[in-house]
Amino acid sequence: MDYDLIVVGGGAGGIAAARAGVHRGARTLLVQDGPIGGDCTFTGCVPSKALIEAAARGASFADAMGAARRSIQSIAATETDEVFRCEGVEVLHGWAEFRAPATIDVDGRRFTGRRYVIATGAGPAIPSVEGLSDVDVLTNENVFALDARPASLAVIGGGAIGCELAQAFRRLGAQVTVVEALDRLLPHGEAEASAVVAELFEAEGIAVRTGAAVTKFEARERRGAARLHLADGETVAVDRVLVAVGRRAVTDGLGLEAAGIETGDRGFIRTDATLRTTARHSYAVGDIAGTVQLTHAAYEMGRIAAGNALSRLSRRRFDPSFIPSVTYTTPEVARVGITEAEAAGRNGRVAYLPMTEVDRAVVAGETRASSSS
Ligand code: NAI
Repeated sequence: MDYDLIVVGGGAGGIAAARAGVHRGARTLLVQDGPIGGDCTFTGCVPSKALIEAAARGASFADAMGAARRSIQSIAATETDEVFRCEGVEVLHGWAEFRAPATIDVDGRRFTGRRYVIATGAGPAIPSVEGLSDVDVLTNENVFALDARPASLAVIGGGAIGCELAQAFRRLGAQVTVVEALDRLLPHGEAEASAVVAELFEAEGIAVRTGAAVTKFEARERRGAARLHLADGETVAVDRVLVAVGRRAVTDGLGLEAAGIETGDRGFIRTDATLRTTARHSYAVGDIAGTVQLTHAAYEMGRIAAGNALSRLSRRRFDPSFIPSVTYTTPEVARVGITEAEAAGRNGRVAYLPMTEVDRAVVAGETRASSSS
């Protein structure tokens, strides 16, 4: 075997797995198509948080986009090939494709590995709605490359990405309309938090359409501009459309069949609680595992999978139940564990602590969020 551990994909999950492999003394190869860093560094957490911070302090659109791009450069500079090579990880750039359970080809070169961790991530899901494919849409992958502020923006999806970017773009001066299919913003969290965010969005001048479906997109003459037809008959004309309706699995061209790795729900790789796939020697972590799609969860999964892969004694399990998450709207919405609705029927107790009782919120003058559970 050429390597003890081959990690496919150099985002958060792959980085953590490769580092954990080296710490365990394994000969470790990290295969990455393009620069190391993944969604978090290039198209997710890093530029979005820089944009949000800049928008909150009243920066111009050009300055905020500049801050987002500089933030990418400064974080990417800490994740170069050189950094990983110094740590003992071998880095190879190219596209990895399984030819057999223990064999991959990377752009014509063949390698064998005793164990594999797959961390190829996810991309933006694009819903199949009439006319949408004719519109040059924005997603988290290209929105940070915008060089001019759209006068108006429709955000499709009121989840984490949709809410964070809707508020940032509004603060940067765009007219923003959020269209969410379910009956509230941030529908995966607590209803009280959704209500607080919706109220503030409306106060800031963001049009919120919940329980709404776009039945048709009509591309307009200007590149990216569209007219949205909503199910209730209303139409909304915008300069740009941002799609943020969740993630799709990225497994095309990986040769998963040759490896005996099965996919399940929406094409994500099936794993057991130890993150092992249906192939004995391979593990899957991060967004491609389709459970918790958060950077810090990917790091944790990467460490666990590499440990389990390399030690016969280690059978650590990844428990997604207690991974904290924060949506970086103002106010931020933080969460850990199950929601009140998910707790229904279990033998629990529900307690509320108003923000007016939280000293941190009081001293910051941020007690508008009336309750948190
Ligand atoms: P999401 O799953 O958080 O939200 C997608 C929203 O789109 C849902 O509310 C859904 O009901 C809605 N939707 C689906 N189809 C629709 C349609 N056709 N029309 C209108 N609405 C529709 O997905 P999102 O925001 O794309 O984020 C992707 C992943 O990235 C999530 O797992 C999220 O947790 C993570 N993320 C986390 C952040 C954080 O923790 N701060 C920031 C950004 C993303």
